Amino acid sequence: MIKEIFDFLWRKKRSNQTPEAQELLKVIDKQKLPRHIAIIMDGNGRWAQRRGMPRASGHRAGIESLRDVIKLCCELNIDFLTVYAFSTENWKRPQDEVNILMGLLVEYINKEINELHQNGVRINPIGRLEELPRLALDALIKAVELTRDNKKLVLNVALNYGGRTEIIDAIRAIAANVEAGSLKAGQIDDRMVSEHLYTANQPDPDLLIRPSADFRISNFLLWQLAYTEFWFTSTLWPDFRRIHLLQALIDFQKRERRFGGLIVR
Ligand code: IPE
Ligand code: IPE
Ligand code: MG
Repeated sequence: MIKEIFDFLWRKKRSNQTPEAQELLKVIDKQKLPRHIAIIMDGNGRWAQRRGMPRASGHRAGIESLRDVIKLCCELNIDFLTVYAFSTENWKRPQDEVNILMGLLVEYINKEINELHQNGVRINPIGRLEELPRLALDALIKAVELTRDNKKLVLNVALNYGGRTEIIDAIRAIAANVEAGSLKAGQIDDRMVSEHLYTANQPDPDLLIRPSADFRISNFLLWQLAYTEFWFTSTLWPDFRRIHLLQALIDFQKRERRFGGLIVR
């Protein structure tokens, strides 16, 4: 019993259920939520450096933010969450940091997979996965297999992901059909391109969040973000909690999305 109470309190603390967050939760219009949220999990290095700690500890601290965000997405019945974890350009970093990031990925999966599975999360890695280190790839395959029938939330984890690479992969697949004679170039349209992306069969993100006061998309979801609402914050990713996601959602609900058309009043 004591253990259960302790567990409950610990989880409550970790999920940052502040009174302020509870208030925001009340004012959110549950009928106007995004179906798909995308997040650039950035600022781990700066978070650590500001504390005089190694960058690795920032990456580790970022895991807690991800837990919090996934939990809130499940509570709010968000269908898709796409998180940018490692870009095709991140290989340029010192080998030590790359190794740490890959190690953390394996550790994260091993530690969290059962809870994610119990909560109905389907893990869907996106990117050039075949270029990831064997250990990371094996852990990912296991997570995908275990969670493949889950329906609560699709968690796209962008790993060795680049928006340009994704478009190149789509062009190559489509061009192969043209080459084989089963497709005419003139038949290629918007929908066909979307269906050849890693996010095939998913709606485009409604909301993109980038923390850490950088105002760029860093090669993330270049095609899919065409009409996405952007939300930026100076909060660094390891400090990002449910309160920040709630703030983003409240701002999102004030936006008027026109998709190039006009709102007739
Ligand atoms: C994001 O944090 C994690 C990855 C890119 C893998 P950073 O490591 O980019 O942190 P900053 O931007 O240097 O603070
Ligand atoms: C984007 O962050 C990639 C991830 C968060 C995984 P970066 O830190 O790599 O982006 P830049 O270099 O600041 O544009
Ligand atoms: Mg960064």
